[in-house]
Amino acid sequence: DTISIINKLYNENNASREELLYLLDNIDSKSKELLIEKAHKTRLKYFKNKVYIRGLIEFTSFCKKDCLYCGLRRTNKNAQRYRLSKEDVLECARVGDKLGYKTIVLQGGEDAYFNDEVMVDIIKSIKREFPNNAITLSLGERSYESYKKMYDAGADRYLLRHESASKKLYEDIHPGEQFEARRRCLKDLKEIGYQAGAGFMVGIPNQTNEDLVKDLLFVKEFEPAMCGIGPFIPHKDTPFKDYEHGSLEKTIICLAIVRLLLPKVLLPATTALSSICENGREEGLKAGGNVVMPNLSPMSVRKKYSLYDNKAYILDEDAQYKNMIEEKLKNVGFEIEITRGDNPDFK
Ligand code: 5AD
Ligand code: SF4
Repeated sequence: DTISIINKLYNENNASREELLYLLDNIDSKSKELLIEKAHKTRLKYFKNKVYIRGLIEFTSFCKKDCLYCGLRRTNKNAQRYRLSKEDVLECARVGDKLGYKTIVLQGGEDAYFNDEVMVDIIKSIKREFPNNAITLSLGERSYESYKKMYDAGADRYLLRHESASKKLYEDIHPGEQFEARRRCLKDLKEIGYQAGAGFMVGIPNQTNEDLVKDLLFVKEFEPAMCGIGPFIPHKDTPFKDYEHGSLEKTIICLAIVRLLLPKVLLPATTALSSICENGREEGLKAGGNVVMPNLSPMSVRKKYSLYDNKAYILDEDAQYKNMIEEKLKNVGFEIEITRGDNPDFK
């Protein structure tokens, strides 16, 4: 039954395909409570009540891809496109460093302007000024050589959500893209030496529990250093505009299961989770999450980086926002940790 599957997940950090599917299909409020309790206990064991903080810089809204769910897809003629200059990015990094954020995340669409030469220059400039801070990249699929050049320039981590571990669903929502190409990228990133982050959306239109079980098993097998999990949220200028967003409950269940499958993983309570529910972030942290990623992008571009509608905290001032998070986290028993926050297994 669901209770013994949860106990197995807690004791062995593992479960079979059948068990995971049974759990997702049959979980009730009592077993959900147990699952969250076990996930929380597991996170306390490895991370105490600490929450790592990463400053997110959304440096380009140009994208050559056409993901059906995303507001930045290339065929969205209503999207407002921008690029930050190296100086803009450095300015954001300075704001982050002042606030004590020891990791910055450079995230953007797949934008050919930011070729290897441009990226290497940005990465080196940040590292020159902030040698002790970590740089996480999140700029999509690139070649092995490109990943390697950026790693050699000083990048530490790379987020590339696998989005869905079901080949059929992956290829349905990514027209013209190959499932295997994304897998190759993730493998390359790990091999080069990055702390690699995978991840998936919960509640993609037509996604089944079988699909989610594939995501959970993939995460277990790939063993990413980080794992980004958030609900799908519709964007008004995409083909998925009329679908419902993924549920808070199911996202929380997936977060808790991933915490049990990979006890030491870095697991953000994502902005998407906050965007569908007032206390989404706190709920995510209570279910095993241990990372938050406040926005450090310049105010003038924040509305333009629109992956989905009704994004939370979009216009909060950086310093105020930090105080607000600190306060809110304290209320639910967590504490912000001001260190780089590498994965405990990473050397
Ligand atoms: N809803 C939720 N998440 C989204 N992403 C992109 N579009 C959406 C959406 N409509 C996520 C993808 C991507 C990450 C940067 O944002 O998973 O990897
Ligand atoms: Fe581009 Fe990423 Fe949006 Fe896909 S999800 S369209 S790759 S920004």
